[in-house]
Amino acid sequence: MIDLHGNLAYHSADKIKEKGHFSVILDLIEIRRDIHRHPETAFKEERTASVIQQHLKRLDLDSRRCAGTGVICDIQGKGPGPTIALRADIDALPITEATGLPFQSVNQGVMHACGHDSHVAILLGAAERLAATREQWPGTVRLIFQPAEEVVGGASKMVEDGALAGVRAIFGLHNDPTLPVGTAGVAAGPVMAASDRFAVTITGKGGHAAYPHQTTDPILAAAAVVVGLQTIASRIISPLEPVVVSVGQFHAGTTGNIIPDRAELRGTTRYFNLKVGEELPGLMETVIGQIAKGYRCRAEIKYDYLVKPVVNDASLTALVRSVCRQELGDGNVRDFDKVMGAEDFSVYQQIIPGCIFRLGSEGPFGLHHPQFNINEECLDIGAGLLAEVAKKALAELG
Ligand code: NI
Repeated sequence: MIDLHGNLAYHSADKIKEKGHFSVILDLIEIRRDIHRHPETAFKEERTASVIQQHLKRLDLDSRRCAGTGVICDIQGKGPGPTIALRADIDALPITEATGLPFQSVNQGVMHACGHDSHVAILLGAAERLAATREQWPGTVRLIFQPAEEVVGGASKMVEDGALAGVRAIFGLHNDPTLPVGTAGVAAGPVMAASDRFAVTITGKGGHAAYPHQTTDPILAAAAVVVGLQTIASRIISPLEPVVVSVGQFHAGTTGNIIPDRAELRGTTRYFNLKVGEELPGLMETVIGQIAKGYRCRAEIKYDYLVKPVVNDASLTALVRSVCRQELGDGNVRDFDKVMGAEDFSVYQQIIPGCIFRLGSEGPFGLHHPQFNINEECLDIGAGLLAEVAKKALAELG
């Protein structure tokens, strides 16, 4: 049906057409491949934003830039009513692509390895469907093309620049290569974790590695800190609370026979319970400080709060689930399995109720993999789902 290079076979295209899901003006596969070929990382999405605006223009829709490289577009329906928003993230990752696809990235070291190229095409497809049916629904649909999701900085910049002004509810999707195409994952409540970051500097006294007693070794202290930090998740916070403390960077030293005078660690914490988040910096300071002291070193800790958990509103999620069932069939709507991954969609949910769901994209590799790819059949399906979600939300909220 589909080869791994994403070529849409005719019979599946016909199947989509029968369901009334085919775009007329925009070719979503072409758009996705164009964006895929020209990926841009966080806050550098200049070309991406201008391509989005050109396609909106083709649909006779006015748009404006928001937060630098983001785009906002309001589609007015017939008559007054509430405003709801549909959001797509548009940035790529600093990964060297290894798919060998004919539309592989031409930007060295940059790749759409999280499928945000498909999110752009899907939201444009939803825009075409909504614009074509604007006589049939009331109110306004705001399209939010958001930059910089991967560094969890884009959503807050969009909000600062007025993206949510007047908006009552927000919806979004993320492709999921582990789900078959034609399925969706939907769940209410907390689905993705809060994400913070920390940096630790351990300072000791350097010297010759053959005479360790004349030094205070920050590498040994930092190694003990990496191990000791795991007691926060396993021994200090209740085992009933999901929490992750991961060290992802450990930098120290210049060569094998010198003990350096400092070691640096960087890491991330993940959790769902905000009380856990409040406790973490203090707990880490105690654990790290005491371990460093035991090794006759000093420790400095910097802890930054980044994003809160993604918590899907119950009634908006019921709405999304009913649309997915109607469009995909009951058996193709699954749970959105809770993960410790994060997503700055939560920034919008701090302000207005929202729901993000997963769209089956059936890829051979996971998100952020250098060979990541999607089954392009999901583009039209996603566009149809978002358009129907928007219409139903306007009908219910109005
Ligand atoms: Ni992503």
